[in-house]
Amino acid sequence: MIFITGASGFVGSALCAALRKQERPFYGVSRTRPYWAACSEEEAFFQLDLLSTSSIDLKEKLSGVKTIVHCAARAHIMHETEQDPERAFQALNVNVTQRLLEAAVAAGVKRFIFVSSVGVNGEKTPDNIPFHEHMPPHPKAPYAHSKWQAEQVIQGYASKIETVILRPPLIYGPFARGNFAALFRAIQARLPLPLASIKNKRSFLFLENMISALIACIDHPKAAGETFLVSDTEALSTPELIATLAKGVGHSAFLWPCPMPALHLVGVLFRKQESIRRLTDSLVIDARKIGNLLQWHPPYTAAKGLEKTGRNYVLCQKAL
Ligand SMILES: NC(=O)c1ccc[n+]([C@@H]2O[C@H](COP(=O)([O-])OP(=O)(O)OC[C@H]3O[C@@H](n4cnc5c(N)ncnc54)[C@H](OP(=O)(O)O)[C@@H]3O)[C@@H](O)[C@H]2O)c1
Repeated sequence: MIFITGASGFVGSALCAALRKQERPFYGVSRTRPYWAACSEEEAFFQLDLLSTSSIDLKEKLSGVKTIVHCAARAHIMHETEQDPERAFQALNVNVTQRLLEAAVAAGVKRFIFVSSVGVNGEKTPDNIPFHEHMPPHPKAPYAHSKWQAEQVIQGYASKIETVILRPPLIYGPFARGNFAALFRAIQARLPLPLASIKNKRSFLFLENMISALIACIDHPKAAGETFLVSDTEALSTPELIATLAKGVGHSAFLWPCPMPALHLVGVLFRKQESIRRLTDSLVIDARKIGNLLQWHPPYTAAKGLEKTGRNYVLCQKAL
């Protein structure tokens, strides 16, 4: 039995749907009922607020569970509303992870898989040297700090339970939120985007590649005790990313060159420095470790993943 937290989220719901398709037994947990559980014949969903569930109650829920995939997190905060954001990140991303681990050990769970973030490594690759697992952590934002803290908590349990940590970059797919959703809207509206001069490289991860990597971590004996960076094989520049997405949407991208200092000035004027930084900086991942150790390779190329994402986005828009 596989126990998935964050079962209503972008990643967790796709994992639950994939496991259902493979007819593998699982339970999903979140506060809201996910789409995949809407018309299920047998109940595979627990409604649970992890913030207010004790490790004793969690232990009960984990009876018969072999593997936990912990996807629930405080993530994608575009407009912060918490008075004390660091405390809020700590409460869900660190303290809940610790409670779940405690319960998992008590319940005899064999493997705990944690979805962390490449943000633990840092926000941009220095001197264009790709991030790899042995580089010292460099978390910047409170979200990344909380993921790094959680990773350290998890390492402390490594003698009691098999632990696996995955550090993905930005994951894209039809229901991607935040900056990705904004890009879709801009492409569909054929807005002229002043991004043609950007010469960066960024690693991303197609949702279906992420699900495939998670399933490899569930199944492969050699995943135990490991931390893996994971990404699509190819890193892309921002103009390449937009052009490929646009192909899937069925348009050609409307990109025009704008000098970089002007772009950064626009960021300052509109208080969008962070978004401009993400569009212009490089962040490249060296994901060879997971390939070498687990013989896992992304089933989709970045081009195929982005085109599929663009196509599915249009289909979803039409269906809504
Ligand atoms: N998406 C990305 O680009 C990306 C990149 C790197 C790492 N990650 C990591 O991947 C994991 C999954 O991300 P995602 O994109 O799927 O995030 P998401 O769509 O925001 O999903 C978060 C999940 O956590 C659940 N959750 C939040 N608070 C909860 C609580 N108090 N009790 C129970 N469940 C709670 C949410 O369910 P309810 O609100 O229904 O409770 C939801 O199912 C996260 O750990 C994230 O940090 C994501």
